[in-house]
Amino acid sequence: MSSKPSPPPPAAQLDVELVTLFPEIFDSFLRASLLGKAIDAGVVRVHRTNPRDFARGRHRQVDDSPYGGGPGMILRPEPVAAAIEAVEAERGRAHRLLLSPSGRLFDQALAAELASRGRLMLVCGRYEGVDERIADLFADEVVSIGDYVLAGGEVAAAVIIEAVARLVPSVLGCEASTIDESFTAGRLEYPQWTRPPSFRGLGVPEILLSGNHAQVAKWRRLESLQRTRVRRPDLLARHPVTEDERVLLDGGVARRRKRPPHER
Ligand code: ADE
Repeated sequence: MSSKPSPPPPAAQLDVELVTLFPEIFDSFLRASLLGKAIDAGVVRVHRTNPRDFARGRHRQVDDSPYGGGPGMILRPEPVAAAIEAVEAERGRAHRLLLSPSGRLFDQALAAELASRGRLMLVCGRYEGVDERIADLFADEVVSIGDYVLAGGEVAAAVIIEAVARLVPSVLGCEASTIDESFTAGRLEYPQWTRPPSFRGLGVPEILLSGNHAQVAKWRRLESLQRTRVRRPDLLARHPVTEDERVLLDGGVARRRKRPPHER
C-alpha cells in the first residue's frame, strides 16, 4: 500500500521567534491556558533561540563590560546577531522587536499592529543592556512594556506575546471581547460581576440584573468613563470626553454603587 505524503502543516496565524538567554523562563507560560491550546492547535507557533549557542570560546561568554566604564555587563553583539541571522536563514524575515526599558511604550494599538504582522521576533536583553549596534543593525522597533526596569526582556516578551496572541481570532475563545475593547479605546474597562448575587455583604448593581440591555450598555459606558477619570486622568487628557459622553455625564445614570475603599 502506498502511503501519501502528509500535507504540510497549515501556516500559523502568529509566528513568534524568541531570542533569549533564558528560554526556560517561557516553559509554563507557553503551555498554559488559551495560549497553550493555540500552540497545540498550530494557530500560534513559538521558536526559542539562545544567543549563547552562537557564542564562541570555551566559556561561551555572551557579555562584557561597557566601554567608557560603568556598572554591570553588556550583551555582546556577535552572539545576538548570529542568533537573529540563523533564525531568519531558517524560517524567514520577521518584524524584529528589541525589548528595552528605553524603547517606545507598548500599548493596545501596538499589540493590534503586531498581530496583523503575523511573524515577529522578540529579542530579549539581559544584564545592563545590549550593545547598541544590535538596535542599529537589526531592530525594526525598540519596545518597552512600562516605565520600570526588569532584569531582562523575557517577561516583557511574555507580556507582548499574550497581548498579541489574544487578538488572533481563533485564540481568544470569545471574539466579542476584543470587539468590545476596540469600542472603548482610551477608556478603562467597566467593572463586572458574576454569581453569587451577594458576597460578603456586597451585592451587584441592580441595573445589571434588569435585563434592559440598552440601560446596561449606558451604565457601563458611564462607569468606564468615571473610572477613567479617577484612575487614569492621563488617558482622558489624550482622549477627551466626547459629545456623547458629556450628555451621559450630565444627564447621568446616577452612580448608585457605594465606592469601595480603593476608589475613595
Ligand atoms: N527590559 C528591562 N526592562 C524592560 C522593560 N520595561 N520593557 C521591555 N524590556 C525591558
